[in-house]
Amino acid sequence: MLDLKRQYQPLYRELMEALGQVLATQQFILGEPVAAFEKSAAERLGVTHAIGCSSGTDALWLALAAAEIGPGQAVVTTPFSFFASVSAILRAGATPLLADIEPVTFNLNPVAVEAVLNSPQGATVRAILPVHLYGQCADWTAFDHLAKERNLKLIEDAAQAWGADCQGVKAGALGHAAAFSFYPTKNLSAAGDAGMVTTNSDEIAERARMLRQHGMRRRYHHDETGWNARMDGFQGAILAVKLRYVDTWNLLRRTVAKRYHALFHAAGLVETGPYPIHGIVLPQEVRGTHHVWHQYVIRTNSRDGLRQFLTERKIGSEIYYPVPLHLQTALKGLGYKEGSFPEAERAAREVLALPIFPELREDEQQTVVSAIAEFLS
Ligand SMILES: Cc1ncc(COP(=O)(O)O)c(C=O)c1O
Repeated sequence: MLDLKRQYQPLYRELMEALGQVLATQQFILGEPVAAFEKSAAERLGVTHAIGCSSGTDALWLALAAAEIGPGQAVVTTPFSFFASVSAILRAGATPLLADIEPVTFNLNPVAVEAVLNSPQGATVRAILPVHLYGQCADWTAFDHLAKERNLKLIEDAAQAWGADCQGVKAGALGHAAAFSFYPTKNLSAAGDAGMVTTNSDEIAERARMLRQHGMRRRYHHDETGWNARMDGFQGAILAVKLRYVDTWNLLRRTVAKRYHALFHAAGLVETGPYPIHGIVLPQEVRGTHHVWHQYVIRTNSRDGLRQFLTERKIGSEIYYPVPLHLQTALKGLGYKEGSFPEAERAAREVLALPIFPELREDEQQTVVSAIAEFLS
């Protein structure tokens, strides 16, 4: 599914040197290595502030809390994402309200969000939290319009979308604040857990910095109940090295995605969708967005059988996500039930992520496509 060693080997010397510098300075938490990464990351994304932290999950919580989203307020997000998109809202003390997804991009559907805003619960909504799922930006034009019209905050879950853009504006620079994850499988990845908040707001940035250090503005003077959500120096140093390469890696991912498209078409397996019948529906890049292909996710209505067939042939695949968030045991209290979000539930039954990473070879892709063709025949 993913061979991180292929990325590591050519970077070995640079990474060891960067780690050595952290050891030489003994700045293990925040400090110069993290500050240098934050500065370069902000420049790359075209934002005024980047705040390194301990994980994408913490970045989501920090972004919400720094934007003063809390108890008595609701945030609308998607049921088809990683758990943290919703759990971070709960941790901020706010109420998650869910809205269904679009079947083509699997991203939060602005029309469904508008229906939530117009419902009786809509009056408590203070923010929308779209997720740029699989590396493609959510429909920002629509969300921007909704947010301006209703005076709402937009918080991006950009965990999977380093380098993606919408109409030329980078993920991370679209909303009032954004959260990135540098979990080892992400397009830009640390050697452990790490994350980052980005924003163009001086107030949100100042609050995020305060909240990631136990609510301290002055040492041992706690203005709010923040948390320990700091980035390690080693992670900052590693990320600063990888930041130099991530644009090239993202372009290589685009090449891999294009190759899958061509191979599937050549094999005669492709259906136009959005829902599969006998073959497979390919992922699409929506006009006006720049997809960074964190995942290459096909749809098929024989997903579980196909996955088993691939596993028997030692071909990696993954399901992001098999259980939509409204049906998770931990989130029963939100009050949704089966049937609440038909698009998310259908996607959870049909999606299958295939191996994709910058170093994936054409012959390996051919093996994946041939196996899928064999299964479907
Ligand atoms: C969409 C999404 N949101 C949030 C997160 C949480 O990030 P982390 O694992 O770094 O806490 C992830 C990563 O797993 C993710 O994919």
